Amino acid sequence: MLIAGNWKMYKRASETADFCLGLSPPPGVDVVICPPYTSLAMAAASGVTVYAQNVHWASEGAFTGEVSAEMLLDLGVKGSIVGHSERRQHFCETDETAWSRAEHALEAGLGVIYCVGEQEEEREAGHTEEVLRRQVSVLQPREGLVVAYEPVWAIGTGRTATAKQAQDAHAFIKSLVKVPVLYGGSVKPENAQELLSQQDIDGALVGGASLEVESFRAICETAARLS
Ligand code: 13P
Repeated sequence: MLIAGNWKMYKRASETADFCLGLSPPPGVDVVICPPYTSLAMAAASGVTVYAQNVHWASEGAFTGEVSAEMLLDLGVKGSIVGHSERRQHFCETDETAWSRAEHALEAGLGVIYCVGEQEEEREAGHTEEVLRRQVSVLQPREGLVVAYEPVWAIGTGRTATAKQAQDAHAFIKSLVKVPVLYGGSVKPENAQELLSQQDIDGALVGGASLEVESFRAICETAARLS
């Protein structure tokens, strides 16, 4: 079971240091935190497993504002989130650019949490499977590749997918590509047990509830009990 905390654009380096001091991940579960770039070095120095939130597809070059897999490895970072819906929504990320990022990161030796998920209108129109099929079609199973199913309507809204909706989507994704699949979207200590007990849910990508060490630790402990 893998529990990853996506901090998005929250926490400076000093707040990161405090969080890592208080974390103490339980045995039997892989715990990852994904701080902003400016807090990666501090997090990595604490001994916690650290992923970035994005990574570029080239090793170096004229790509202002981007960071490469090699640069992340240099800091002791072990992987990266790729294709998060916020990057797709606000930064023109496409299935093709996301896979380019993931492919290079995997080749360089980083783990990748590759995000997919439908928007609310797409679910209401009955297009969830079609959207997931399109998003997953660019993926090739590789060592170190994990998918995160994050229905966009459940992100930061408090509206978690039901355990059945999540399980159905995970089983569908796994029928297309044989990789572990995490669930993301309003995961919190109160719903972690039900979600993580589903057969095809292999862990969680946690946003808001990963910002407080108590709630993140509670989710990690639930995962450890179920592992
Ligand atoms: P929330 O847990 O805040 O809904 O965020 C989910 C997410 O986007 C994790 O990547």
